Amino acid sequence: MEHKIIVVGIGPGSADYMIPAALKTITEAKVLVGGSRAIEQYGQEKGQKQCVIRADISSVMDFIARELQYHDVVVMVSGDPGYYSLLDAVKRSFEDSQIEVIPGLSAMQVAFCKLGLPWHNAELMSMHGRTVAKEKLRYKPGRTIGFLTDGKNNSKTIPALLLSLGWPADTMLGICSRLSYEDELIIKTTLGEAEDLKKTFLSCVLVVKAK
Ligand SMILES: C[S@@+](CC[C@H](N)C(=O)[O-])C[C@H]1O[C@@H](n2cnc3c(N)ncnc32)[C@H](O)[C@@H]1O
Repeated sequence: MEHKIIVVGIGPGSADYMIPAALKTITEAKVLVGGSRAIEQYGQEKGQKQCVIRADISSVMDFIARELQYHDVVVMVSGDPGYYSLLDAVKRSFEDSQIEVIPGLSAMQVAFCKLGLPWHNAELMSMHGRTVAKEKLRYKPGRTIGFLTDGKNNSKTIPALLLSLGWPADTMLGICSRLSYEDELIIKTTLGEAEDLKKTFLSCVLVVKAK
């Protein structure tokens, strides 16, 4: 019997935001791969083989290949697997026929919901470990953009960049920090006021909506 790699989206963090099929698959896993926080949260203590994802992705792929000879391997990724996750690397290393994917709620999707904004016309961009060309960030009336962020591209630097590219200071800015956790914080402000906020938010999704 050929074993499967099941890539499971765990949503933005809290189990309340994970779909039941994902939780069931993770709970029944004999071999579980994931970030340290996810392993801590969802790993079973007895008899389960685990692999914590660190910087060395090739060693994770080696672990999966080894375990796949004997068991299905469940790989947990944050948010939705189809949106900036380890699924890309898994697909580069294994055949499509070996891979199953279970969806999760993306932090991006949750952010738009928390702000009460439809996202069917929004442009979605990632500045998590990457940059976006300035030409793609020009101001246009009515434009809505959602950004994944990181420590370098954060709740202060991205608004400052947009202001420098001609976005009006009164453009709505939603800062959605630590989504689904107990200390979740949703701030509705403007690009112009972002600089004066006391804190710089790092693990967050930013949404800008031009008038
Ligand atoms: C590598 S991306 C992963 C995206 C993920 N696959 C998804 O669909 O949400 C990581 C980025 O997602 C966002 N993110 C993930 N979890 C979050 C949360 N609980 N609250 C706010 N933003 C979150 C942050 O912008 C973070 O830097």
